[in-house]
Amino acid sequence: MDSARIREEFFRFFEEKGHVRLPSAPLVLKDDPSVFFTSAGMQPLVPYFLGKKQPPAKRIATIQKCFRTTDLEEVGADTWHLTFFEMLGNFGIGDYWKKEAIEWGWELLVQRFGFEAASLVATIYKDDDEAYDIWTKELALLPPEKVFRLGDLETGDETNFWSPGPTGLCGPCSEVFVDRGPQGGVPPHDCSPAEDCGRYLEIWNFVFQQYDRKEDGSLVPLVKRNIDTGVGLERLAQVLQGVVHDTFRTDLFQPLVRKIESLSGTTYGATAQTDRSIRILADHTRAATFLIADGIAPSNEWRGYVLRRLIRRGALHAVGVLSGDGGG
Ligand code: SER
Repeated sequence: MDSARIREEFFRFFEEKGHVRLPSAPLVLKDDPSVFFTSAGMQPLVPYFLGKKQPPAKRIATIQKCFRTTDLEEVGADTWHLTFFEMLGNFGIGDYWKKEAIEWGWELLVQRFGFEAASLVATIYKDDDEAYDIWTKELALLPPEKVFRLGDLETGDETNFWSPGPTGLCGPCSEVFVDRGPQGGVPPHDCSPAEDCGRYLEIWNFVFQQYDRKEDGSLVPLVKRNIDTGVGLERLAQVLQGVVHDTFRTDLFQPLVRKIESLSGTTYGATAQTDRSIRILADHTRAATFLIADGIAPSNEWRGYVLRRLIRRGALHAVGVLSGDGGG
């Protein structure tokens, strides 16, 4: 299934479930100067979640351009981390809750997209018995041994507790992973989704926005709770295009990889060092292009500096490694 069709199937599915499709917001949000770059589908919708603006509908679906530098060092080192990606998301604004969110996510993955149910596992926040019961009993989608309780706010471990910042809207989340099997990543193969060992590929994050976190860290329950979900298009494409181990082999990256191969005379798959450089170049040129298209120019400060670093890092890999001079 090519990526254009994945996008369209996603939108159609959630339209059937009563959602209104909205276009992607830019990578820089004019109304929210606190956000460096748009890094999640929920960010442009925050005024709706907070009740500051009237949403066009209580159920919204988007495919949001996102840019994150949190995983920058991982980009290229493995075959799936990216700086720029497209996040498919369905959102319930004071509307549906955990059961519907999980049920629809599963239905889309398994019934529409044809994911093998046996290859999926889920994580939940350690105390979220409501989500645990939905997965294992109410909807009975997964056996208990495939639902992992993670995170512990008391010890500062925010795994499976999602918030866009230190204060504000937040809540427990539940993530769905594809188990790529013991050959899926680097050793140790016998690991759990809690460890970033490469065996489990995160596909979908269901965030249950049920708190407003205050400056002192206290969690005030929200009167109107929201659903915020996010699925990486690139990750769906990995699975649906039979290249679950390498996002750079999806149709989203193949034209870029081919171009880098022809410009450099190197073949993707030739050596570990050139492969890493090809991945960095493919990711960084794509990200830089979208940043520039959304009005950012390379500069010495603020967002422009991030873009400049991205271009510089890509260029170093182009000149150093792909030209055969070493470096990178
Ligand atoms: N906001 C969550 C995330 O970024 C789910 O969309 O993962």
